[in-house]
Amino acid sequence: MSLIYRRKANQSKIMDTVYDYFGEMRPFVKRIDKKWLIPLMVFLKTIEWSIYRWYKTPVRRFYGIKGNELIYMITSRCNERCAKCGIWKNPESDTEHLQIAAFIDCLKTLHHNLYQVTLTGGEPLLFMKDVLLIAEEAAVHKVPMIIVTNGVLVTEDFLKRYAELGHILVFSIDTLEKEKWGNFRGKDTYDKVMSNLQLAHKFLGGKLRIQSVYAEETKNDIPKIKELCKQMNIQHVSQPYMDFGGVWHGVKQIYENKNDNIICAARKNICIYPNGDVVKCFDHYRIPLAKESLGNIEKENIIEILCRKRSTEISKIMKTCNFPCKYLSCNVPEIVYE
Ligand SMILES: C[S@@+](CC[C@H](N)C(=O)[O-])C[C@H]1O[C@@H](n2cnc3c(N)ncnc32)[C@H](O)[C@@H]1O
Ligand code: SF4
Ligand code: SF4
Repeated sequence: MSLIYRRKANQSKIMDTVYDYFGEMRPFVKRIDKKWLIPLMVFLKTIEWSIYRWYKTPVRRFYGIKGNELIYMITSRCNERCAKCGIWKNPESDTEHLQIAAFIDCLKTLHHNLYQVTLTGGEPLLFMKDVLLIAEEAAVHKVPMIIVTNGVLVTEDFLKRYAELGHILVFSIDTLEKEKWGNFRGKDTYDKVMSNLQLAHKFLGGKLRIQSVYAEETKNDIPKIKELCKQMNIQHVSQPYMDFGGVWHGVKQIYENKNDNIICAARKNICIYPNGDVVKCFDHYRIPLAKESLGNIEKENIIEILCRKRSTEISKIMKTCNFPCKYLSCNVPEIVYE
C-alpha cells in the first residue's frame, strides 16, 4: 500500500465526511452544462448526499438491489499444477488466509446487493468446510452461489449437501484426452475428475456446468467438451486464455466476431483476495488508481470500503476500461452459455 492510501484510510471521521462530500460534488458540478443551474443542483445533490450519508444504505453507489457479484478467491493454494495458470505458484501462508467469519460478515452485509456469490481460487474445495458454511449462508439469504473447481476433491457428502442448498458447481475441463491431461494439469487426475464429473451430474443434474479455457492448446478439444455437455444436458462456457501466469497461448482471432465496443461489466464485481483485500476486478493492476486494494474486510466494514472516494473513482474509470480481461466470464454482464 502507498503512504497516501494509508493516510486516507486513517483520516478522522470528520475529514472523511468533508472528503467524501467534495469528492462527490466536484465531478457532479463538472457535469452540469448550464452554469446558472449549479447552485440549485448542488443544493438538491446535497440533500441526496446527506440522506445517503446518514442512512448509509448498502445500495449506495452500487448497482442497486441484486446488482452485484461477490467473487471470493478463497485461496491461492492448489492441488493441481496447470500449465495455463500460475496461481498455484504463490500460495498464501496460514497467517495470510482470511478467517471465514470475516467473509461471512461481508456476505451478510451485502446480500441485498448480490445476484450471485462466486467462489474461485486456487482450489476452493481445499477449504470444503468453509465453502459449505458460505453456501449455507448464501442459501439463507437466497443468494445463488457458484463454485469453480478443478473437480479433484469433490466427494459424495459434499455433493449431497451442496445439492440440497440448490447452488451451481462449475468443473473446469480443457480436454477429454487422457494423454493430454497430464501436461495440461501437471497431475495425473484424469480418472478421478471424470468419475467425479459423473458423480456431480448424478447429484446436481442441470446445476452442474463445465468451463473451458479457449487457447491455441485447447481449440480442437473444446468442440468435444461441448458435445459431452450436450449429451449430459448441462451448460458449457469457454473463456479466452489470459495471462494468469501460465505458459499457454491465446487464440489470436478470438475477438474477430466479437463487438469490440463491448463494455466491461466488471464494475458490478466486488472481489476479495485470500487475505481479505478488496478490489473491483482481479485485473485491477492494469488500472493505475486501482493497483492498491481498496481495503481489507478483516479490518474494516465492506460498506465503508466500497463507499470510499477512490472506490467510486475506480468504478467510473472501469466504465470505459477496455482490456481483453473484459471477456472473462466474471466480467461480462451475462455469461453466454454455448
Ligand atoms: C483460476 S481457476 C480457480 C478454480 C479452480 N482451481 C479451477 O481450476 O476451476 C478459475 C477458472 O479460471 C480458469 N483459468 C485458469 N487459467 C486461466 C487462464 N490463463 N486464462 C483464462 N482462464 C483461466 C480455470 O480453467 C477456471 O475455470
Ligand atoms: S486453473 Fe485452477 S486447478 Fe489449475 S492450477 Fe489454476 S487454480 Fe489450480
Ligand atoms: S477491462 Fe479488465 S482491468 Fe478493465 S475493468 Fe474490465 S476486468 Fe478490470
